[in-house]
Amino acid sequence: MSHDLHESLRDNVRVLGDCLGRTIADDLGPGFVARIETIRGLAKRGRTGEQAGQQELIDYLRRLPETDLLPVTRAFNQFLNLANIAEQHYRARFRRVEDYKPGVQPVLGELLERARNEGHSPRKLVETLANMRVELVLTAHPTEVIRRTLIQKYDAIDDCLTAIESSSEYPERAARARGRLEELISQAWHTDEIRHDRPTPVDEAKWGFAVIENSLWQAVPDFHRDLDNLLLETAGERLPLDAAPIRYASWMGGDRDGNPNVTAKVTREVLLLGRWMAADLYLRDLEQLKTELSMWSTNSALRAEVGNVAEPYRELLKRLVAKVEATRDWAKAQLDGRSFEGGPVIETRDQLYAPLLACYRSLCDVGLDTIANGVLLDTLRRVAVFGVTLTKLDLRQEAGRHALVMEELTHDLKLGNYREWSEEQRQAFLLAELESARPLIPRRWECSAETRETLDTFAVVASEYGEALGTYIISMAGQPSDVLTVALLMKEVGGRVGMPIAPLFETLDDLNRAGDVIERLLALPGYRQLVGKRQEVMIGYSDSAKDAGQLAAAWAQYRAQEALVEVCERHGVNLTLFHGRGGTVGRGGGPSHAAILSQPPGSVNGSLRVTEQGEMIRFKFGQPDIALRSMEIYACAVLEASLLPPPKPKAEWRGEMDRLADTAHNAYVGVVRQDPDFVPYFRAVTPEGALGRLPLGSRPTKRRQDGGVETLRAIPWIFAWTQIRLMLPAWLGTGEAFAGRIEEPGGLEVIQEMRDQWPFFGTYLDMLEMLLAKADVEIATYYEHRLVDEPSLEALGGRLRERFRRLHSVLLEVLEQEELLEKTPLIRQAIEVRNPYIDPLHGLQAELLQRNRDADGAISADLSRALMVTMAGIAAGLRNTG
Ligand code: PGA
Repeated sequence: MSHDLHESLRDNVRVLGDCLGRTIADDLGPGFVARIETIRGLAKRGRTGEQAGQQELIDYLRRLPETDLLPVTRAFNQFLNLANIAEQHYRARFRRVEDYKPGVQPVLGELLERARNEGHSPRKLVETLANMRVELVLTAHPTEVIRRTLIQKYDAIDDCLTAIESSSEYPERAARARGRLEELISQAWHTDEIRHDRPTPVDEAKWGFAVIENSLWQAVPDFHRDLDNLLLETAGERLPLDAAPIRYASWMGGDRDGNPNVTAKVTREVLLLGRWMAADLYLRDLEQLKTELSMWSTNSALRAEVGNVAEPYRELLKRLVAKVEATRDWAKAQLDGRSFEGGPVIETRDQLYAPLLACYRSLCDVGLDTIANGVLLDTLRRVAVFGVTLTKLDLRQEAGRHALVMEELTHDLKLGNYREWSEEQRQAFLLAELESARPLIPRRWECSAETRETLDTFAVVASEYGEALGTYIISMAGQPSDVLTVALLMKEVGGRVGMPIAPLFETLDDLNRAGDVIERLLALPGYRQLVGKRQEVMIGYSDSAKDAGQLAAAWAQYRAQEALVEVCERHGVNLTLFHGRGGTVGRGGGPSHAAILSQPPGSVNGSLRVTEQGEMIRFKFGQPDIALRSMEIYACAVLEASLLPPPKPKAEWRGEMDRLADTAHNAYVGVVRQDPDFVPYFRAVTPEGALGRLPLGSRPTKRRQDGGVETLRAIPWIFAWTQIRLMLPAWLGTGEAFAGRIEEPGGLEVIQEMRDQWPFFGTYLDMLEMLLAKADVEIATYYEHRLVDEPSLEALGGRLRERFRRLHSVLLEVLEQEELLEKTPLIRQAIEVRNPYIDPLHGLQAELLQRNRDADGAISADLSRALMVTMAGIAAGLRNTG
């Protein structure tokens, strides 16, 4: 069976590849296609381990005429994207195929069975699911390399594959689908794969809404329907009507941290767009309901509401449609800056929900349950999940920007210098001001433009009602005063604390102090009065890994969560942990199920927030079937972590982790911060400098334009190392830690015990294994040969590779394997199959970087585009940007 499955994947790759070949031949002639074939052949030979093969490939690439460079990079990039479509299609079709580890991809039905067998009552299962609050937060993080217009074509290509596979009895239908496939692949080939301009934050938000429209709008009711059926089977009960175990929030147009393009004006616009889109989508549902619910029989409540009409449901729906239309027109008028004269608009979820519920109840009361539980139920579910805004919009701003407001304010009011005050002085001042009845900010205050913008954002918070906004996140938070400042600014501008406030801890020091900071905050009665019984805290995975190295950061994240759980429990406060994870391992990425179950026990008590970023949004939520599966995986993980939590780590393991993390941290810092050759090496060998040219997102690659590597954001930091396949940030230091321990008696045994019995550690090793399998020191060496000519830098490169090789062999020893990914052949094959297509892109990238340097960045527009295409292509080949 599994042989057949792989066969179908291979067939599809061939179909798509042949089609691309024909398109390219039509465009550039058979001679060009022959050159592509030669390159592919050489790359394949190079991968068989022959040194000569690799050299031949490089020589061939270097001799290519300049006019060929762009089309060659494009051909390989497009092929890799088509291979990804085939693979994604295969995974969606056979949803239980081995993903990351055989047998661990959860299936909800099986999990419910297991929970029942472990003594959880049916009631408990229903309650846990009904009260579950998972919020998936879609961010605009610039890690999606593929343009929206191409994503649409790729989705259509996927549909064609489905049509071909299901048309074996209908040759005409299959032929039509093949014709369409040719058309789409030709369209893609004749479309620029790199945008010409950066998207604006509003463009990004529109893209987020499109994911809802094209995929989640369908997947959400399907997910509830499946859940309902499963609960009925296992527990004999149904999911409550208004249950919304998984909801969506967004950062698109709200995350201003280091992105000057996200202004208060933008946020207002995005909020309105959400209202408009929501109204537009609901209208489609309501129109369908109005057409279909032509029944006459009602209960007395509905009859009383609509009066004696022939088609009471239609009557009620007609009124509702009018209101939703008015809402859509109102939002549009606001967006266009026009006034609106129309009728009352829908403001709250309940205004939409209540009439639909009245229809539902009436249908059930008169025995028409089958009709009630059809399209109408789907619409009710959508209202429960999407509300009237589709997503809740989070806001994020750096702690420093709020401190700047306080500094200017205390200066202008002659109250002192906020920046110089101790933490205690700040807290005392902020608490007193929070309690004071008089305003602190003068009415016509002349402040800096930056501070005005910060305050304008608080004005947006003040003008919005509770359903539109999610959480206000403070990046680089480190002290209770960072949170109190935001509370005070909300009160000053809006008269109240208008939305929950969450500090984001994202350096090693801040993670280490997270429990203490929240402890001190919750101990302040003034603060408790403001926030009541809830506290949200965000954990930043990638910045902490950039700061401390992956192993030390992972352990600090774990301990911070444990401390936060303990503190909040003691204070009787419900804690929601918000995980700021990226897609790649270096940014805390990994399969959602394993990631959630590797968190400390007690940290997922039915509630959880997690970011979904860039290409991961496409991989996990881009199509209805895949989104459905992703929601199932999340529901499973949270249910399992809440009902059957992972074991507490043994004290001995904790001691081990302390030592391992310490050694790894010292080794990491010793290179990244203390070796004077490190930064010059990074700059010379990776495409870091050129990355800023890729117009992936609306935000700049650095927090400050004049800064060095420390101001570089975590995404381009990881992206740069990924492009040359050294993947350094995710492993540097770990080899020393493991090797040192293994040399000691009993060391290997205890590490293996942790591997087998502690999900946190087991998952860490799985991710490391996958990362090392994607890394390739030969390629990194090639970049060095081409781009570095200082002996001290070369020596550093040599040492880094030596460390990599050491970790590689230590990891195999820990895993008791002969080679990496031995137990997950599908992933191994996926990497192996792609390598011959990625290698030419690496070769050309190094070449183009060299030419770019020689020309001081003044290469031709075509070469510059070719360089960008190599970056996009390598990212596609590795299925991760950075
Ligand atoms: P941030 O995200 O830079 O927006 O904090 C980092 C990441 O997602 O890797």
